[in-house]
Amino acid sequence: MLKIKDVHASVEGKSILNGINLEVNAGEIHAIMGPNGAGKSTLASVISGKDEYEMTKGEILLDNEDITELDPEERAHKGVFMSFQYPISIPGVSTTNFIKTAINETRKSKGQDDMPASEMLKMIKEKAELLDIDRKFLSRSLNEGFSGGEKKRNEIFQLAMLEPKLAILDETDSGLDIDALKVVANGVNKLKNKDNAVVVITHYQRLLDYIVPDFVHVLMDGKIVKSGTKELAYELEEKGYDWIKEKLA
Ligand SMILES: Nc1ncnc2c1ncn2[C@@H]1O[C@H](COP(=O)(O)OP(=O)(O)O)[C@@H](O)[C@H]1O
Ligand SMILES: [Mg+2]
Repeated sequence: MLKIKDVHASVEGKSILNGINLEVNAGEIHAIMGPNGAGKSTLASVISGKDEYEMTKGEILLDNEDITELDPEERAHKGVFMSFQYPISIPGVSTTNFIKTAINETRKSKGQDDMPASEMLKMIKEKAELLDIDRKFLSRSLNEGFSGGEKKRNEIFQLAMLEPKLAILDETDSGLDIDALKVVANGVNKLKNKDNAVVVITHYQRLLDYIVPDFVHVLMDGKIVKSGTKELAYELEEKGYDWIKEKLA
């Protein structure tokens, strides 16, 4: 599904990613771990196409289509979802209305008509039930005064409604409390299927107690220095990132 080939990226002339190779297949969960400043969020941004990062080399393919030159909206329409994609709060616009617009924009990009209101309502009801989300919450203004947990709930609801092929969840925010972590993990576990894929980025091993990744990659100094299975995450938790540095030295 996703192929990242020798990606290099820089911000304001400073080189941050130095040759990333990564392949994610449908049905897989990949975790990307690494110390602060390793380039994890940069990688997430480069995949989703944010333009403050300049990709200086390499290719990003989604279902064998080169998406390197596409802007974030076009990538979103092709099924790439990134957490904190819409971190802004919008007074007067409810979470539900916001998501309706996002869904209909994607449909429009494929030449489809708006989703009929009845179908949309049914979907909202189903997904809210699946994720145990109070529908009153969905009529509140987007992100306005949301707690950390509510922001996560909103994000996971967006994920459920938009049904992306590839979700990239950047969970590096150290402010995440355990309830918020569980909201994310629970959502991912319920929404995961054989046709989609999730890349979860995290500084802490904690989240991986709840989301079991198929593969774990360690990013350091803008490179993937080690890949493995979930055991690698435990080993990292136990021995720390210095252990890898020593091994590489
Ligand atoms: N917008 C930016 N402007 C300048 N430097 C940046 C910017 N974004 C990230 N960086 C730098 O790039 C490096 C990697 O950052 P980041 O991708 O956020 O790492 P991580 O998410 O692994 O903590 C850091 O040294 C950071 O200071
Ligand atoms: Mg980060």
